[in-house]
Amino acid sequence: MDLFDGIETNKLEISNEAFLLKGYALANEVALLKDLTQVLSQAPLRHMVTKNGFAISAAMTNCGALGWVSDRQGYRYDSKDPITDNHWPLMPESFQQLAISSAENAGFVGFQPDACLINQYQVGTSMGLHQDKNELDFNQPIVSVSLGIPAVFKFCGLTRTDKTLKIPLAHGDVVVWGGQSRLNFHAIAPLKMNTHPILGAYRYNLTFRKAG
Ligand code: SIN
Ligand code: FE2
Repeated sequence: MDLFDGIETNKLEISNEAFLLKGYALANEVALLKDLTQVLSQAPLRHMVTKNGFAISAAMTNCGALGWVSDRQGYRYDSKDPITDNHWPLMPESFQQLAISSAENAGFVGFQPDACLINQYQVGTSMGLHQDKNELDFNQPIVSVSLGIPAVFKFCGLTRTDKTLKIPLAHGDVVVWGGQSRLNFHAIAPLKMNTHPILGAYRYNLTFRKAG
């Protein structure tokens, strides 16, 4: 089966309207990492809890007009960081440009992300199978950027029992899903021991969304 797009061999269609853009974030890596450090210094990573009181194993923070938060009340988007009561840090230009051009590259023209969730995974950390459905407009795609140590992204269908693809993600890879795949279930397998020369034994994931 020819999974490649044909025009750009680094663009792989993993499912209907879902694409892996291999190494796409590397072109602007230096600016991205500098801006990531800046955001993390303003809005510290923290372990949020779910409605049921369980700590989410990835540490999280946000930048942009809206941030994804979870606590005993449940999940929602909020314009303020509940820890500092300040607005979330502005979405850096390098982040915005990457999100917009990734979406465009995957066929989603006019994406205007207002939320960037930052997940930090340690070795052994995983993320369970879920759908991204706290956003208002499911016509807008999800842009997901991987930095640091590798992970295996599990991309399923519209039900949990659909066939699951296991996609290895490396530093600089971008996954974009929308349209017919927008509500597909997805997960991250427990991270294997590894080290990245700059980011150490961590993986950072930037998830860009149009939330509001
Ligand atoms: C998520 O789906 O929320 C995170 C995906 C990832 O870490 O790549
Ligand atoms: Fe997700």
